[in-house]
Amino acid sequence: MKIGILTGGGDCPGLNAVVRGVTKSALRRGWDVIGFRDGYRGLVEKDFVRLGDRDVSGIIIRGGTILGTSNTANPFAYTLAPLGSADKPKDLSKLAFRNFKDLGLDALVAIGGDGTLTMAQQLYKKGMPVIGVPKTIDNDLSATDVTFGFDSALNVATEAVDRVHTTAESHNRVMIVETMGRYAGWIALRAGIAGGGDVILLPEIPYRAEDIVKAVLDRKRAGKKFSIIVAAEGARPEKGEMTVTKVVKGSPDPLRLGGVSYKIAEILDGKTGLESRVVVLGHVQRGGEPTPFDRWLATGFGVKAAELLAKKQFGRMVSFRNFGFTGVSIAAAVGKLRRVSPGAQEVRAALAVGTSFGNSRIAK
Ligand code: F6P
Repeated sequence: MKIGILTGGGDCPGLNAVVRGVTKSALRRGWDVIGFRDGYRGLVEKDFVRLGDRDVSGIIIRGGTILGTSNTANPFAYTLAPLGSADKPKDLSKLAFRNFKDLGLDALVAIGGDGTLTMAQQLYKKGMPVIGVPKTIDNDLSATDVTFGFDSALNVATEAVDRVHTTAESHNRVMIVETMGRYAGWIALRAGIAGGGDVILLPEIPYRAEDIVKAVLDRKRAGKKFSIIVAAEGARPEKGEMTVTKVVKGSPDPLRLGGVSYKIAEILDGKTGLESRVVVLGHVQRGGEPTPFDRWLATGFGVKAAELLAKKQFGRMVSFRNFGFTGVSIAAAVGKLRRVSPGAQEVRAALAVGTSFGNSRIAK
């Protein structure tokens, strides 16, 4: 067999561990492996590198991706120079297929989130033998209990919540920590619970300004003169929209969120007698080394991907379910995001220890 690997979409810790897992287990089976550079750009522009054992040795601990990635390269709507034009996306999927054939490939391993895997599914439907691996710090892919990258981002976010605690307490301030996560609140929810946040704001539970103020005032009355608010970037008011900071043309999801915590600070301004400060964590959550859990998960995913390849179970994505590695159809994983359910056990647990979700209605 000869296989190609690509990493697409936003990077995250653990990508290299998957590349290593797939490559090492493929080489041991006597297969050839190539890695495409910058996600689907490498497939469309035939830009690749041969992967041998030495290339993947020692990369399990490295963040980012040795292959590079792109959040805009899409074979079906290609907008990158020099092959496409920034204004007019072109369907270059036929070229991708030709390259795949010219290179003598038997299969493609696409490591990515919703956008990358949706493209993988389209390629599969048109006849390319594809295996998917679920990546994203947002943890929002369906058909798997967890994606790699999430635990590493969660660690960074939790450490940030821990760190602002001491300064919040010294100054009697409200500290608002904003996490990534796009339309899903997993990072904010888990970092909020793990870091003992007083208010957690999620896209799935739209907030009411008066309930955020009340939560801070209730704490003040109880003698706690500081509060920690953990806000997901996708948090939004009950009667309002998410805060969009940028529109990235050509991206599968062009909206970039961010800045909602400044709105929360404005809500609190003058209403609690406490000063507020904002910390937007941003890409710090995506950088650096993967946690041990993510290295372990990514290795298991990579090895399982090679197993699915050996069995020619194409159109499948590796998945972690009920504490085991398995294969599911890529189609089941994409298109519908896995988001926090307001009735989830962990939300109820947070409520039970007095955490506010900025909406008194869900407390009932
Ligand atoms: O999907 C991962 C993610 O980091 C989101 O949490 C965030 O909203 C987005 O990507 C940021 O995208 P970019 O790297 O293009 O700014």
